[in-house]
Amino acid sequence: MTVQGGPARILFVCLGNICRSPLAEGVMRATAIDAAFPVEIDSAGTGDWHIGKKPDPRAIAVAARHGIDISAQRARQIRMSDFGYYDRMVALDASVLRDLRRLAPADGTALLELLLDHVPHRPGDDVADPYFGDDTAFEAALSDIRLGIDGLLRSLAESPDQTKG
Ligand code: 4NP
Repeated sequence: MTVQGGPARILFVCLGNICRSPLAEGVMRATAIDAAFPVEIDSAGTGDWHIGKKPDPRAIAVAARHGIDISAQRARQIRMSDFGYYDRMVALDASVLRDLRRLAPADGTALLELLLDHVPHRPGDDVADPYFGDDTAFEAALSDIRLGIDGLLRSLAESPDQTKG
């Protein structure tokens, strides 16, 4: 699909890497497999509070209700090398995107973007942090993430030569 023939490398980033970005990773993996779209995916947090932990039980539960198993994921923090390794670092909200732009090394090559920028009528919108919310907040986050992933896959299909291979 590219000059180098490699899969698109995508890193989803939120604050804690226990709620939103693990859901994005899980939805992207399931959707890309269904579409036979070659991607290499991971997720990470800007914060270090939850390193090594499983996703939040409420995130595992909402994913499971939608047929997706994210229970094997473990939280990690972003690394400087991510900015050179990934084709895209996809932030789940605007404050995370600001942090990524601030942290990006001068030679970072990853495209830094916001997930919901891929959704018509939603550019600039956040996937609201469900951490202090209830199950409804987790369902809303998953619903937004699904829309964002569908749009992201459309974008990847339209610009396949952006991968580092
Ligand atoms: P996430 O949610 O960024 O979607 O993983 C959060 C998880 C933990 C915290 C904040 C947001 N926290 O403050 O510990």
